[in-house]
Amino acid sequence: MNFPRDFLWGAATAAFQIEGANTEDGRGESIWDRFCRTEGNIADGSDGSQACDHYHRWPDDLDLAKWLNLNAWRFSVAWPRIQPTADGKINQKGLDFYSRLVDGMLERGLAPYMTLYHWDLPQYLQDKGGWESRETVDRFVEYATIVGRALGDRVASIATFNEPFVTAYLGHWMGVHAPGIQNPATSVQVTHHQLLSHGRAVQALRQEGVKAPLGIVLNLAPVHPASDRSQDIRASDRHDVAQNRLYLDGLFLGKYPERCTELLGVEPKITEGDMEVISTPIDFLGVNYYRRAIGSADGVPSPHFLRKENREDLAQRQAPQSSSTNGAAQDKEFKRTVELPPGAQITAMGWEVYHEGLRECLEDIKRRYANAPPIYITESGAAFDDEMVDGRVDDPRRTAYLQGQIAALGRAMSNGVDVRGYFVWSLLDNFEWALGYSKRFGITHIDYATQQRTPKESALWYRHFVGTQR
Ligand code: FCB
Repeated sequence: MNFPRDFLWGAATAAFQIEGANTEDGRGESIWDRFCRTEGNIADGSDGSQACDHYHRWPDDLDLAKWLNLNAWRFSVAWPRIQPTADGKINQKGLDFYSRLVDGMLERGLAPYMTLYHWDLPQYLQDKGGWESRETVDRFVEYATIVGRALGDRVASIATFNEPFVTAYLGHWMGVHAPGIQNPATSVQVTHHQLLSHGRAVQALRQEGVKAPLGIVLNLAPVHPASDRSQDIRASDRHDVAQNRLYLDGLFLGKYPERCTELLGVEPKITEGDMEVISTPIDFLGVNYYRRAIGSADGVPSPHFLRKENREDLAQRQAPQSSSTNGAAQDKEFKRTVELPPGAQITAMGWEVYHEGLRECLEDIKRRYANAPPIYITESGAAFDDEMVDGRVDDPRRTAYLQGQIAALGRAMSNGVDVRGYFVWSLLDNFEWALGYSKRFGITHIDYATQQRTPKESALWYRHFVGTQR
């Protein structure tokens, strides 16, 4: 399929995963810096202090993206660089870094796609309750306004949040991401406060006269019941509510799904007027897609959703169907969702390769939400155990994965879904959160000892493909 000539072809990154330099130029501590310091939280015991050293090497990285024929770059701003201390004072050096970065993109013909929050909350806000506290909403709006004033006339778009479901669920229900809380009620409140922060920030940025289109990035998954047994259907509905409906219904219908409390067993505290704020119209929706979910009442959770004390070793994590039910006591029902049908093709994350799911998610949005804005695929990609041989990384499975995703996207667009761009996750191998540097998602290989960048064969394929689309 030929995509529109002005379609965006980009790659996505996130501050904490690539920047490093986490004490430089006045940056404050984030919840991820703190989380990495507790033994057992990160699979390989690593942290983000160096990562890809992008903070210093960004000109080379932007050159690489340009060489790859890309015309867009997705990045996030580290809140602790902008407001490093509890008094909220602006750190000009932090703003200057992103200002140089954005100018560097513009000089190279890369449209800057900015995300305000990709999981690195300042630790001082966590100390006061983090996303569970309504005060964090006000602080986010303040932060969004500062960044919007400084960069809002140069960036091509502003997404408020990246994957609020992951922050709520992995960070506050399962506790495998920062801040490591395991409490369903907190998790659901965190969902509500992130969405409220999103809506308030959109309103504030519009009031400031910020010109960039405003939106949010969600990670969506079609959910299929493992069988037609009623308990499997219920397990699917529960997962669908937790990952998809809470967010999409909140944003586009201005209400949470009716069965949300019954299925999740907890209810957010909502103040009058919140849902109107949350459903403030937006200019675009970012969709991150990796895999589908399969709902089963007897399923076992994906092992990388478990805390270390409940996990088997890393190798077994790659074969979730054989993992034990060790952790099943943790949250009783919700996570009892199998992620893999037998015989599925899987990535190094243990995630099923299922391209049609992208089309299904996109068509589901079109079918259910008449007021949904244009869509960007803000993340799509896969981790494999790459090997560097004679200076080359031959990664045919990643290339095939990207081809499958782009073909599924093409089918959704032929069926009438309005999609404007596609961003590969990720440009560079990077710090994959609780899995540290053990999983490689990049189309560019990073040698962490030397910081040498080597485009993999998948990058060369993407470069060629993008070239044919212009
Ligand atoms: C997404 C995150 C991104 C990366 C990919 C693999 O959930 O947004 O930072 O970790 O998964």
